[in-house]
Order: sequence, then structure tokens, then C-alpha cells
Amino acid sequence: LDNGLLRTPPMGWMAWERFRCDVDCKDDPKNCISENLFRDMADRLAEDGWRELGYEYVIIDDCWMSKQRDEHGRLQPDPLRFPGGIAKLARYVHDRGLKLGIYADMGTHTCMGYPGTTLDKIEIDAQTFASWGVDYLKFDGCHSNPVEQMIGYPRMSKALNATGRPIAYSCSWPVYVGGLPPNVNYSLMGEICHLWRNYYDIQDSWDSVINIVDWFSNNQDALQPAAGPGRWNDPDMLVIGNFGLSIDQARSQMALWAIMAAPLIMSNDLRTLSNDARAILQNKVAISINQDPRGMQGRRLLQEKSHIEVYWRPLSNSASALVFLSHRQDMPYLYHTSLAKLHYDPGSYEAYDVFTGRTMTGLTHTTDLKVSINPSGVVMWYIYPTKHKRFHNTWKEHTL
Ligand code: GLA
Repeated sequence: LDNGLLRTPPMGWMAWERFRCDVDCKDDPKNCISENLFRDMADRLAEDGWRELGYEYVIIDDCWMSKQRDEHGRLQPDPLRFPGGIAKLARYVHDRGLKLGIYADMGTHTCMGYPGTTLDKIEIDAQTFASWGVDYLKFDGCHSNPVEQMIGYPRMSKALNATGRPIAYSCSWPVYVGGLPPNVNYSLMGEICHLWRNYYDIQDSWDSVINIVDWFSNNQDALQPAAGPGRWNDPDMLVIGNFGLSIDQARSQMALWAIMAAPLIMSNDLRTLSNDARAILQNKVAISINQDPRGMQGRRLLQEKSHIEVYWRPLSNSASALVFLSHRQDMPYLYHTSLAKLHYDPGSYEAYDVFTGRTMTGLTHTTDLKVSINPSGVVMWYIYPTKHKRFHNTWKEHTL
């Protein structure tokens, strides 16, 4: 949606993948969906270096609502779990230099059975969110049919705009109609939403991450051109820092989300995150590749018989990013290639290895490159032509 918001993919934290619909504040007070959880995460984002890196949205997902609308037909939070109300929580978040996101559902009920936003409730819900100071809406699509969705998603876009408050708009519409053309009209998506979920929910496993990556890559001809400043494909949350990914697999998710120009929205427990996970999620070069102002989504370039895949994303100022991904399950694989084989123009280049911090100088397009890639791991390079020395020194000062 071309209104000045989300010119680069959104970054932040969302409750769903890690905290789901845990409403048991009696026995599980630290992890239940409540204002305390969102305040805790806002504190961590503000105090542990996340905000400065761009992680700014704190996003409430399903299960925040009371089972009933109020006497004016407005959504209201569960009174026991959000006793201060959402407006107060928004102030808390804003006071820390962060933004607040919320969840609603185009349909009769949310996916977990809380009050939905039927067509007649769209305007009132948009106004309620704006009046609370909400900055981001995830608009899910459980319990509605394709005709209602076709009316409802554009109507919510208008209703949010009519509030006068800048509110980023995330649409789950594509998921509910199969994720691909002709059922999904991606130019329409780009006109009415800032981002959209294309595919199934991520889970805390490598299987889930790689299944998502494969689907996005297999369908990249339809998906990749849809993305750009203000309009992003959303392969779902980062699960780095939870239980399902090894360190190599966590690097792989970070690298591939950067290549895909995907939202960097974590769903983990920032209060107990390991240093390994933190280092991956706070990798400045990976983040700057994800946030490149040109906003062009990358693509899978090659699928080798060796089960090595190569991904590429063009960046501003003639730079680019490469990711070598191993689908193997045996040992580090020594992959031989050259920039010429990866369709780079003749010339001289330098490359910065995003996860080791090593710089390779004096490369030309014909240099024999030997890349050692761990099983289910990646090697990620930021590459730039040597000629553009002046710019790249600037880039390094900014990002390193
Ligand atoms: C759907 C969405 C998830 C999450 C849940 C909440 O499954 O895709 O991201 O919002 O609903 O119930």
C-alpha cells in the first residue's frame, strides 16, 4: 500500500508462534496472553538493543479479546488479562519508542473463536483501533467466505485510511484462497495492504521453515514481482530462539528471510533468549540486507543435484546478497562455483561473509569459489563491485 508506511519490511515481535492462545494466567502468569506479556516484550525490545536495530512493532495476536463486544458494539479486551485496556498498553509501548500492533479477523469469529469482524463491523473496529493508538493491524480471515473476503479486505483498508491514523495493514487474505493467482490478485494486494500472509502458519521446526521456503521459491515467478516498498510477501514469523532450530538452521531462517525481503517479526521469548539466537537476530548486515531501500525481493537462482541451492537478491548501489543453502543431511559440503556461473557481470568484486565477518577481496567473476556449507545451514555473502570503494566504505561505517 503506497501511503508512506513500511517502505521496508516491518520488524518487531508477535505473540502467536511462541505464546499461542495461552489464556491461563492463573497457572502460567508469565506466558499467558496478557498486558504483562506485551509490557515485558516492549521492555526487552527497548532495553536490549532491538529497537535501535529496527525491531519496533510489538504485535498482539489472537485471544486478546473479551468473548463479547461492549454495549456499543465495540471490541474490548479480556478484562482480567488486560485490566488497563489497550489504549494504556499503547501508551506504554509508545513511551518506549515502539509501536503497537493488534489482531482482528475478517469473519464471524477469530481462528480461536473470539469475536470476529463481520462486514458491518469493519468501520467501527478500525475506529476503535485508531482511538486506542494502534499502529498495525493483522487482519486474519478465519470464518468468512471468498465473497466476504473480497469485500472485507479492501473495505478495511479504506476504513483504516479514513481514521486518519497511520496504521500498517497486514492481510491474511491470500492464505484463505490458496496463495496463488488467479485466485489471488497480487497487484490488488499491493494496492490495499502493506503486507500479506501467502501461505500456512510457521511452526517451531526446520521442517516447517524449509517447507515455507520451498513453497515461496517454487512459486517465486508469481510472488517475487508482487513485493516492493510498501508491499511485502509474508512467509510468517521468525522462530529463532525457540526450541526447534539448530544454530545453523536459525542462521538459515535469518538469511532466507533477508533474501525474501520478508517481515522480520520474531515470535520467541525475549526474556530468556540465548546469546546465539540474539547474535543471529541482531546481525546488522543480515538486517541491512533485509531492509535494503530498493526493496526488491530475491529469488532462488539454482537448485543443484548436490542439494545445494543458491539464492540471490539485488540491492541498492550495485550490491547484492547471495545465500548458499544446503538441503543435505551428511556433512559440510564443499560447493564450487564462480560469480560468472551465478550470472554476475565481468568485473572485480569484494564479498563480506555475513555470519563469519570475513571479507574476501580481489575476486573477479571467474575466481574459483569454494564454499563450505553445513547441513541445513547457509553461507551468506554481501557482494559489491570493487570500483564502488567509496560507497562501500560508507556502507561499512554505517552497518558494521
Ligand atoms: C491463524 C493465523 C496465525 C494466528 C492464528 C491465531 O492461524 O495464520 O498467524 O494469527 O490464526 O488464531
